[in-house]
Amino acid sequence: MKILVTGGLGFIGSHTVIELINAGYDPIVVDDLSNSDIKILEQLTKIIGFKPAFHKLDLCDEQAVKAFADNEAADIEGIIHFAAFKAVGESVKLPLKYYRNNFFSLVNILNAFEGRGVNLVFSSSCTVYGQPEQLPVTEDAPVQPAQSPYGNTKQVAEEILKDVIASGSDYKMISLRYFNPVGAHESALIGEQPIGVPQNLVPFITQTAIGKREKLMVWGGDYNTPDGSCVRDYIHVVDLGRAHVAALKLMEQQDFTGIDFFNIGTGKGSSVLEVIKAFEAATGVKLNYEIAPRRDGDVEQVWGDATKSTEKLNWKAELDLNTMMSSAWNWENYISQNPL
Ligand code: WQD
Repeated sequence: MKILVTGGLGFIGSHTVIELINAGYDPIVVDDLSNSDIKILEQLTKIIGFKPAFHKLDLCDEQAVKAFADNEAADIEGIIHFAAFKAVGESVKLPLKYYRNNFFSLVNILNAFEGRGVNLVFSSSCTVYGQPEQLPVTEDAPVQPAQSPYGNTKQVAEEILKDVIASGSDYKMISLRYFNPVGAHESALIGEQPIGVPQNLVPFITQTAIGKREKLMVWGGDYNTPDGSCVRDYIHVVDLGRAHVAALKLMEQQDFTGIDFFNIGTGKGSSVLEVIKAFEAATGVKLNYEIAPRRDGDVEQVWGDATKSTEKLNWKAELDLNTMMSSAWNWENYISQNPL
């Protein structure tokens, strides 16, 4: 079964391509390379033994997307839509860049493949929950006002999906609300490739450990949490990739209709200081860090209740924090010795 994977050369997209192939699907990768590296295609080829189908495509170009849908993707049966900008801090500085890219690409894809009975998996985020009133957060928790334009694009995108379904569309849709994706493929041939200074915790940890960064700043040590640092639900990117396969399989069942939402997390919260300790234990590397003032926009603590995903999606995270840290470290060592 042919599956269109937009943003398929990105961090989560590339790991998902491998899981799709492992599950017997035939992925067609599109990417505009604005936030990914064409060399990931070679890396994927090393892992899977053949070069996945790839097309460079600007999803904001409506005519180009329509032409692609008609000429190159006439027989796809599923879509996994990753393509979007996702840096919370950058979205505050450049909101229009985020609204244009994240909305134009989604609407163009939905438009071009309308009426084909396609199953669509949408890459959403726990940022739709803001700071939940109750933890762990469940899928029916109230969606809080977005903390950033990035979070707003995910909230509004989910509304767009719901409106398309309500209009009587023949799409089936699943929105996966990711918590914090970290780690790398066991081969260490693909992983997280932040451009410039990493915004996210784990790539900053590995770059500090390898000497690319002098010191990790822990943004905030005075939160109302057990050790004062923020708590998040970190999930291995390979587990996350497998959740997308589970979502496709659920929609292939006759009794699935319309749209549904699932938390993709471990159900366990880990503080920043706990992640640092887990990294040091997994790698034997002592990390140079200091407690610094809080970062604007951070929620204090959020972790997901993944019960619905286990019961309905037949999916559960299997890889632990130790594996997340060791795989991230192996990737950092690989990429430092083998720049792409
Ligand atoms: C985690 C914690 C920081 C860097 C991410 C994605 C977002 C969404 C959810 C997908 C926070 C602290 C970080 C550093 C630090 N994923 N930190 N020093 O903000 O939870 O959001 O996951 O949609 O798109 O960005 O992740 O890794 O930036 O921060 O102390 O140098 O680590 O303050 O408490 P975040 P993060």
